[in-house]
Amino acid sequence: MTRVFSGIQPTGIPHLGNYLGAIQNWVALQADHECIFCLVDLHALTVWQNPADLIAQTRQQTAVLLASGIDAKKHILFNQSAVSAHTRLGWIFNCVSRLGWLNRMTQFKDKAGKDRENHSAGLYVYPNLMAADILAYKAVRVPVGDDQRQHIELANDIVKKFNHDYEVDFFQEIEPFVPAQAARVMSLRDGSKKMSKSDPSVQSRIDLTDDADTIALKIRRAKTDPEPLPSSIEGLADRPEARNLVGLYAALGNLTPEQVLAQHGGEGFGPFKKALTDVMIARIEPIAQETTRLLEDTEHLDHVLRTGAARAAAIANPIVDEVERIVGLLK
Ligand code: TYM
Repeated sequence: MTRVFSGIQPTGIPHLGNYLGAIQNWVALQADHECIFCLVDLHALTVWQNPADLIAQTRQQTAVLLASGIDAKKHILFNQSAVSAHTRLGWIFNCVSRLGWLNRMTQFKDKAGKDRENHSAGLYVYPNLMAADILAYKAVRVPVGDDQRQHIELANDIVKKFNHDYEVDFFQEIEPFVPAQAARVMSLRDGSKKMSKSDPSVQSRIDLTDDADTIALKIRRAKTDPEPLPSSIEGLADRPEARNLVGLYAALGNLTPEQVLAQHGGEGFGPFKKALTDVMIARIEPIAQETTRLLEDTEHLDHVLRTGAARAAAIANPIVDEVERIVGLLK
């Protein structure tokens, strides 16, 4: 069975972009893949995290993933820091990866902005650890949103250079698995910005813990333009906010944007937003309610993560032991 790996940072509540770009696919892949899902708490540390918040968010994110349909009995769910194979391999990859490759990473440039000198070294080598996350399991399929494509390309550069330099055929290239719809969900307040946990405006995103009234209000307030919806996809070209809402409807309703426009073309945003709110609430509300229920039992959540970590370590340790032998570390 093909092995799948993916991760999410436990920094704040997962939002609709995380769900449609990644989590929804994780749930679907469970049917016919061996899946390993990871809360990447070490990646979270690359920018300042309040320690108590990080622990709380790791538990909350675990609850959201279970509530979304991750099956931690059949598959593996754990937090990164609990399996030391990630950092062992991450260090080796820091020594394989090139500065020139890291300098090209757009996510680092976006996050560091002009104030590059004041960011952590961890933020810079972030993609090397991400490559280690995946390759410590020799996973080949990685379901992610569009913003992670470049990191997967860098991981594949590491695969090629490692195999070449050590004259082995040890790692296989990784395949990103990016959804056809909603691979890049945009902010509800600005169609040119990605929906993001770090956006200071809570109105910019739908959190997976939002209740029905909050979802309805955020969609009602979502930025649009004054024109009705077009009836063909070309009509969305210069209308980023309209395109985003149509994309959300398509992803939630399992439709193509063309089908959405065939149903709703010519409509004003009033009725379209109402229809969008209904499909969104139908999907998000049960997740929010189940998350609240699961958060009442933090011991159970911790148990899920501990069990997952033990199973993850059993796969990753022999692989990373072998890498250490290949590179010449005395065992
Ligand atoms: P993170 O925590 O930023 O996001 C988790 C997943 O959600 C996707 N995503 C989105 N998809 C569509 N629209 C959006 N607006 C949006 N925002 C986020 C992301 O693409 C991602 O799939 N580097 C990763 C975590 C990571 C990882 C890994 C992923 C660490 N190691 C190994 C895969 C494999 C990240 O920061 O994701």
